[in-house]
Amino acid sequence: MDVIIMPTKAMAEKMGAAIIANTIKAKPDCTLGLATGRTMEHLYDILVEMHQKEGLDFSLCRSFNLDEYVGFDGSNVNSYRYFMNHFLFDRVNIDKRNTHVPNGVAEDLAAAAADYEEQMDACGGVDLQLLGIGRTGHIGFNEPLSSFASRTRAVTLTKTTYEQNSPLFENPADMPMRAVTMGVGTILEAKRLLLVATSSEKADIVAKMIEGPVSSMISATALQLHEDAVVVLDEDAAAKLAGKEEYKWSFKHDPRWAAYQNI
Ligand code: GLP
Repeated sequence: MDVIIMPTKAMAEKMGAAIIANTIKAKPDCTLGLATGRTMEHLYDILVEMHQKEGLDFSLCRSFNLDEYVGFDGSNVNSYRYFMNHFLFDRVNIDKRNTHVPNGVAEDLAAAAADYEEQMDACGGVDLQLLGIGRTGHIGFNEPLSSFASRTRAVTLTKTTYEQNSPLFENPADMPMRAVTMGVGTILEAKRLLLVATSSEKADIVAKMIEGPVSSMISATALQLHEDAVVVLDEDAAAKLAGKEEYKWSFKHDPRWAAYQNI
């Protein structure tokens, strides 16, 4: 795992965006795994700016989002399809037909989830999977006890996640208790993982994810099992890492990250 610690939240978002932009430049027809959440809002703003000012080209990209609320389609302002259109897809030159978000309104959720996996396979798998982390340590909506072998499926959300996400709804009681999410096993199949976490409220769970034992109680610890996982943090989210100074040293001296030193 590579851990990159940036001085501020804005710089961590810029680093995350730069890693995504370089993936697109290196492989214009790449398949991106995308994420939602407050952490991603400004990161997507930076990608939009790169598209507008530097011509970052999304025209050949394909995308698969991690998750969606059960019962919501893209017309619902709290759906993740709406979020993606609003923060990214409507503002860059991606072909919307190449963007995918799990179907939360399918009559047969299991069949739709299996179909989602098939579509990912048909695209040759995900080149770069962007991830945030929830307070329970979830990636996507893989709550504690999600099997590391889990695939895309409908899940029930925990009370902690309900408390974390319901303030984003105009009427908090409207937040669904269920979601469809890529599984931990699905996520681990991406060629590269990029998790971005900022702010002090993430410091405890970030330390457990990076330095704690691998456990299905914290699905983000599965990143330790991936051969190419990158975690980008701001100082606040990195505050509880025992090896913080070592990670900074490694990043600074690692030739693989030479082009990223002045971001
Ligand atoms: C939701 C999403 C997760 C995301 C998490 C973090 O729960 N399902 O994929 O990582 O939010 O959200 P935030 O960035 O708002 O802290």
